[in-house]
Amino acid sequence: MSRWKGFRRLASMSALMALLLAGCGDPSISALDPKGPRAEEQLNVIMISLGVMILVIAVVLAIYVYVLVRYRKREGDNSIPKQVEGSHILEVIWTAIPILLLVVIAVPTVYYTFQHSKDYTNDPDAVVVEVTAHQFWWEFDYPKLGIKTSQDLVIPVGKKIAFKLTSADVNHSFWVPSLGGKIDTNPGMTNIWSLEASEEGVFQGKCAELCGASHALMDFKVVAVSEAEFAQWTAKMTGATQVSANAAKGQQIFKDNCLACHAVSPDGGGLGPNLNGLANKERIAGILEHNDQKLKEWITNGQTVKPGNKMPEFKDKLNDTQLNDLVQYLNTLK
Ligand code: CUA
Repeated sequence: MSRWKGFRRLASMSALMALLLAGCGDPSISALDPKGPRAEEQLNVIMISLGVMILVIAVVLAIYVYVLVRYRKREGDNSIPKQVEGSHILEVIWTAIPILLLVVIAVPTVYYTFQHSKDYTNDPDAVVVEVTAHQFWWEFDYPKLGIKTSQDLVIPVGKKIAFKLTSADVNHSFWVPSLGGKIDTNPGMTNIWSLEASEEGVFQGKCAELCGASHALMDFKVVAVSEAEFAQWTAKMTGATQVSANAAKGQQIFKDNCLACHAVSPDGGGLGPNLNGLANKERIAGILEHNDQKLKEWITNGQTVKPGNKMPEFKDKLNDTQLNDLVQYLNTLK
C-alpha cells in the first residue's frame, strides 16, 4: 500500500470516528455541560487535571523529538556521549516538577471533595430528600413536605437539595451527570449528599453501580422548576385525589391488585414505587414513553420491559376492560 493510500484511509477513518463521536453527549446527561454549581466545580477539576496532563504530554513529546534529532547516531561518529547518571541537579528537577504538578491537581480536588460532602440536611433553607434505591427504581421522600414519590425528582432551581441516601436491597449509585455526582446507595447505611440546579430543565439520572439484570434500565429524571412551580407541585402532591366515576372501577381493580405493593398516599405498601403523581411522569418505570399503550405494556409484560424487576406480569390476570379501567384510574394520579 502506497503511503498516500494509507494516509487517505487514515483520514477517512478519522472523519468517520469524528462523526460518530460527535453524537456523544446528550445535553441533559453530560458532565461536560454543567447545569448546577456542583457540576461546574467538578468540571473545573476535570479541566485542571486535563490541562496538567496535556502540558506534561506536550513537554515530554518536545524533549523526546529534540533528543531523537539532536543526538541521533551520525555516520563515522563512534564517540560515547556525556553521561549524566547520578546528576543531583537533574534528579532534583525531575522529582520537584511532578510534585509541583500533583499539588496543582490535589489542592482543588481535596478542597472540593470536602466542600461537596458537607451536610445540609439540617439547613432550614435546604429541601431534604430521602432517596431509597430499589431494584430497579428510585424512591424519593420529602419528609419535611410529607410527599412520597418515585422516578421523577422534582426540585426548585437555586436551592440546595440535601439528600439522605440508602438502598432497600443491593448497592446502587445515584448519578445526575448534569448536576454533579455520584454517590453510592448502600443497604443499612445512610449517605449524605447535596446538589443544586442553576437553571430549569429535565436532567437524566442513572444508576451507576451494576445492580442486577436491569441495572442499565434503572433511570430516573430530575425535574428542576421555578420556586413558584415547585410550590404548586407541592400543593398538588399533598392534596386529596378526586377520582371521576368512570375511573372508580379502575380504582377498585387497583386496590385488589396493586395497592399491596404500590402506595398512593396515604395508603399502600412500599415494595414497588409510590404512584403519587404517576400521570405527570415523563416516563413509565423510568424508561418507557408515557402513554396508555405503554402503560398497559408495562402492567401486562413488565418482565420483558425490565427483566428481573419485582413486579408480577398481569397479562393473564386482567382482561382488556379491566386493563382500560385501571389505566383510566392511573391517569388520575396527578
Ligand atoms: Cu441500580 Cu444499577
